[in-house]
Amino acid sequence: MPPRIAIDGPAGAGKSTLARRLAHRLGYLYVDTGAMYRALTYKALRLGVNLEHEGALTSLAESTNMELVPDAEGPRVILDGQDVTAHLREPEINAGVSLVARVPGVRARLTELQRRIAKKHPVVMDGRDIGTVVLPEAEHKFFVTASFEERCRRRWREMLDQGRAVSLNEVREQVALRDRLDSQRAVAPLAMAPDAVCIDTTHLDADQVLARVLAVIRGETGA
Ligand code: DC
Repeated sequence: MPPRIAIDGPAGAGKSTLARRLAHRLGYLYVDTGAMYRALTYKALRLGVNLEHEGALTSLAESTNMELVPDAEGPRVILDGQDVTAHLREPEINAGVSLVARVPGVRARLTELQRRIAKKHPVVMDGRDIGTVVLPEAEHKFFVTASFEERCRRRWREMLDQGRAVSLNEVREQVALRDRLDSQRAVAPLAMAPDAVCIDTTHLDADQVLARVLAVIRGETGA
């Protein structure tokens, strides 16, 4: 089995920045599992599938193929042969993805695809359930978090950078809703694995977070 590093945590905590940089540093493949849930949501919306309809979403997931192709900005997501990366941060997807991600049949299918990738490549995989469900045997597990206010500010700045006119209050509402849906769903909710190292990034920049994680991996420190 190639080496595996699992990174979980809530939206806006800095998981994907860390995962991308860590994968680059170690020469591992970065697997952004949130992007996979987003890609399936994109397909469902394109086909007019009702996001409340669990059976339809399960069939859709079972008949979907997905590949991740490494790229400087993070992986490109190839959905049934088509590159859909540019669509994955659209507002309709932000709003719908938690509904898709709560469906057990969807999770089973994407978990299978994620494990298949990890069998072939050394991976840094980020998501909500990687250390607990997808790769419970991962050599290293990190739970990355930050205060609610800081996570909202980061998401807000990110959206302004992308040219989206949105207020901090709107972002607060979106993040609170997503936190609630992600951590309260019945199957594979956001949770910290008992053997994960928790990193609070509220007062750390991206370099400091990476340095801490590398120190843990090299066995220099316990946290
Ligand atoms: O990390 P992100 O914002 O791209 O995640 C998008 C959504 O997918 C989010 O609502 C949580 C869900 N998700 C999940 O349930 N399990 C994962 N392993 C990754 C993401």
